[in-house]
Amino acid sequence: MENPFKYGGIVRGPHFADRKEELAELVQEMNNLSRVFLISPRRFGKTCLLFNLMDQLHDSGFDTAYLDLNAYPDVRSFAAAFTHLTSKALESNTEKLLKIFAGLQRLRPKVSVGQDGSLIGTVEVASEYREALPALLEGMEHAEKLAWKKGKKLVVIIDEFSDLPKHNGHILEKAMRSEIQKHEHIGYIFSGSEQSVMLSMIRDRKRAFYKLGRIMEIGPIDRDSYAVFIYNWFQKGPYKMERNSLEKIFELGMDVPYNVQRLCHTLWELARETHEVTSFMIKDLPFIIAKQDSPHYELIWQSASQRQKILIIALSKDPGAKPFSREFQLTHGIGPSSSIKASLDSLMKKGIFYKTKGGSYQFSDIFMRYWISYLRIIEK
Ligand SMILES: Nc1ncnc2c1ncn2[C@@H]1O[C@H](COP(=O)(O)OP(=O)(O)O)[C@@H](O)[C@H]1O
Ligand SMILES: [Mg+2]
Repeated sequence: MENPFKYGGIVRGPHFADRKEELAELVQEMNNLSRVFLISPRRFGKTCLLFNLMDQLHDSGFDTAYLDLNAYPDVRSFAAAFTHLTSKALESNTEKLLKIFAGLQRLRPKVSVGQDGSLIGTVEVASEYREALPALLEGMEHAEKLAWKKGKKLVVIIDEFSDLPKHNGHILEKAMRSEIQKHEHIGYIFSGSEQSVMLSMIRDRKRAFYKLGRIMEIGPIDRDSYAVFIYNWFQKGPYKMERNSLEKIFELGMDVPYNVQRLCHTLWELARETHEVTSFMIKDLPFIIAKQDSPHYELIWQSASQRQKILIIALSKDPGAKPFSREFQLTHGIGPSSSIKASLDSLMKKGIFYKTKGGSYQFSDIFMRYWISYLRIIEK
């Protein structure tokens, strides 16, 4: 049987666990065509949740357009993608679509031929316009009009929205807000992982997105329903497994869906021959995964300075420690605080560590901690 625990990409349908409450809440919000800001740390499952939401919305007659801001390096490409994807969601006929694009002022149709010989109609910002922002606004206004004309409800999802300030900052935000506020046939979901960036965009009175919509913070998947999901798949295997061994998996994965999926995926393979899950296997999982990802960790390791390496090792031995405490510095023979701060700042900027609400520093990738401990064994 194919491994049912998928990780890394978009997980859908029977491979998607729970999130029933979150889905119901989002469906309700979109029924009212509201604006929602979806926030969680990376790898908690926002993108998966959004794709499953789109599946559900389609079943209820909505049209949807999904844009990942990461994919668009500038306003020009974002403007074109916004216009293309919203129009395509509302009009599936290529000829009609090209006609729609031809009617725009600052954007023009672009035709290419697909592998099967069929015509593909997209759109681009006309080259004589140096400023792409008016084209984006034209595309947005047009989406609203088209939805109204077609009598359709459209949901626009902008993922990795915390990247927006990187584009053109406040001018873009302000222009988008004034356009979005006029829309009555489009619901919006803005999703992002940079919690502080997202929150300051929405909660800061001086920022354009201030109170434009409600904030929905998503946490880990509910343990009870996630346990049922995992257990049922192992039963289907069929694998012999103790129900309570799942607690250990949630602990190891710190309840982050990506980690839990990865652990279960690896466990499935490990027990493929015997069809029996043992507690020894579970203990081994993070080390196996750390080894699988070691080329990635080696690159990080090579790029770290000596001071940073010492700090990484200390934090791997002492997870949850406060690195600026005397106790931590004495135990690991490092310091002073100023040099620790410099190392930490750099490691956080590279995304290797993140600061928890409680003030401790954690590996962004929990398996890296196991790789470090493995490295120490080799070094000894
Ligand atoms: N509800 C879910 N069921 C199963 N796996 C999930 C679920 N949500 C997230 N995942 C796992 O976590 C990974 C990361 O999810 P993703 O949606 O990309 O997170 P985010 O967008 O918050 O960074 C997915 O590739 C998948 O393996
Ligand atoms: Mg995502």
